[in-house]
This record gives sequence, C-alpha cells and structure tokens, in this order.
Amino acid sequence: MRYQFFDQHPEAADFRVDVIEGLSAAEPYILPKYFYDEEGSRLFEKICNTKEYYPTRTEVGIIRNNIDDIVATLGKDCLLIEPGSGDSYKVRLLLDALRPIAYLPIDISKHYLQNEAKKLAAEFTWLNVHAICADFTGKLELPDHVSTINRVAFFPGSTIGNFSPSQAVSVLEEIRAMVGGEGGLLIGVDLRKDTNVLDAAYNDQAGYTERFNKNLLVRINRELAADFNVTEFQHYAFYNEKEHRIEMHLVSQEDQRVLIGDKVFLFKKEQSILTEYSHKYSVESFHQIASQAGFENVKTWVDKDQLFSVHYLVSN
Ligand code: AVI
Repeated sequence: MRYQFFDQHPEAADFRVDVIEGLSAAEPYILPKYFYDEEGSRLFEKICNTKEYYPTRTEVGIIRNNIDDIVATLGKDCLLIEPGSGDSYKVRLLLDALRPIAYLPIDISKHYLQNEAKKLAAEFTWLNVHAICADFTGKLELPDHVSTINRVAFFPGSTIGNFSPSQAVSVLEEIRAMVGGEGGLLIGVDLRKDTNVLDAAYNDQAGYTERFNKNLLVRINRELAADFNVTEFQHYAFYNEKEHRIEMHLVSQEDQRVLIGDKVFLFKKEQSILTEYSHKYSVESFHQIASQAGFENVKTWVDKDQLFSVHYLVSN
C-alpha cells in the first residue's frame, strides 16, 4: 500500500481560550500559530513570493544547488519525516534525489494533510507515503513496519525561529525523540544580517505582511464573534537587535474597547499586541541551540550572500 493514513487524534487547540488568555496578559499577545487559516495561508504564500522576503527562495536555492551533497550526507534509504508538513512544497526538492524508503508527513490539520499527501503519492509514483495526523510536539507513534528504519526529519522554512531560543531547544528535543538515537535532522534556519534587509522582509511594499498580520483580527471577529475595528490597529514589524529577532505587533491607534463574545477588552492608544517573534541565528549560535538539544552538526550549507542556512544534524 503506497498511501496510508494514521489518525492519532490530536487535541484541537482552543482558539477562544488561547485568544482570551493572550489578550488578558499584561503584555497582550496572540499566538502566531493562529495566522494560518485559509486566508492567512494564502497571504503567507504571497509573502514568500515578494521581492523583499528572501528566506523561501534562498532556502530553495541552497537545497537545489547542493542537492547531490545533501543526499550524499544524509545517505540513501532513510525514512523521511516532516513535522508540520503543510503543503509539502519543499520536500519535493529532495524526493527524487534522496529516494527515501517512505515519506511521513505529520500535520495537525487532517483534511489538508490527507489531500496534500495523496497528491504527493500520485505525483511520485514510486514513493510510500504514510501520513500521520498528530501534534508533533506531543508523543508520536510511528507505524510499526517503518519504526526501525534510519530516520531523518526535515524541518525547513526557519519555522524554528518562531519559537524563543529555550522553546526551540524543546522543539529540537521533540524532533530528536522522533528520529531516535541514530537519527538526523535537515533544518532551515534564517541568519542574522543587515537590519534594513530584515525590516524590509517583514514590511513588504505590496502590503501582504500587513494583511497577514491584521488577518488575525479578521479571523477573531469571524470565529469568536468579536468586533475589532481592524483599521484602528497598525502593523508594526521591526528587528530587535539585542534579542536578534523580528517582532511583529498590532498597535492600537486610539483608546478603544473590543468585545470578544461577552468579554470586554480595553486597548490604550499606542498599546501593542505581540503577534510573532522570528529569531535569527548565526551559524554558531544555532549549533549551540542544537547541541543543547542533543544534536551534533554534520554539515551546514549557506547561500553566497549568507542570508540563510541549511544544517544536517545527527543525534549524539
Ligand atoms: C513561518 N515563519 C518562519 C515566517 C517567518 O519569517 O518567521 C512567518 C512570517 N511572518 C511574517 N512573514 C513571514
């Protein structure tokens, strides 16, 4: 059977509880995982294609330009696992050259995962696809018949940067538990660079990042019966040099009162809601985080402008 589906019934996150908890905090926040409803995912794709947002095309270029070396480093006949696989776009760059024994996309969103995994199985007619509906940060059970094969996880896109450094260590530990003692991890990590380049990447001129950020409020209005006046919040993204991270906020343009269901929230003029951190690493500082999680660096690939990095790590 080339396509199999395993439902591990992940617990659905409670959007209302998380939003109310975040907006009640002394420094209000909304968790970035809520960006990705249908419209948010569409806007993220648009962001990835803007001239200012270099990470996607740079990472794709690094993988394409180094594919033979990457395959030689990872070795053939692995079980390729992708936590948070989404549309499985980047894994397509690896499959033909790597020829894994099986590909295991893991995603929390069941129907999306099933659709994408079936598409992939149809496209790569030789590939075994075992889609697993699960929360990869929780305990994961691999199907028995593949549990002993040499495992490699693929975690592209610098998603690791959306966690704080200490959370990033925990996420890497989860991935390490998933791949086991002999396993490996191919991971994409955005690098520190000129502040202007970073600021521009999160403030694209076409305004897709602004819409992506504000779409959080549109989503809360729609799904949680809220009455945010979206035009009264401003998109604000900047590079915090001390913390080596992009911060995205929505800043209230006036004193205002917002209802979410029957709960009232007051926002002062200039008060901000934090919506995302995107941490940037040097190659060395990322290797330190990785080693805290029990990973050792085998090889790192960087583009010629040193914008982005791809690392192959093994469990030590
Ligand atoms: C998904 N993640 C790695 C993106 C980033 O760059 O941190 C999300 C994003 N936010 C604004 N633009 C892109």
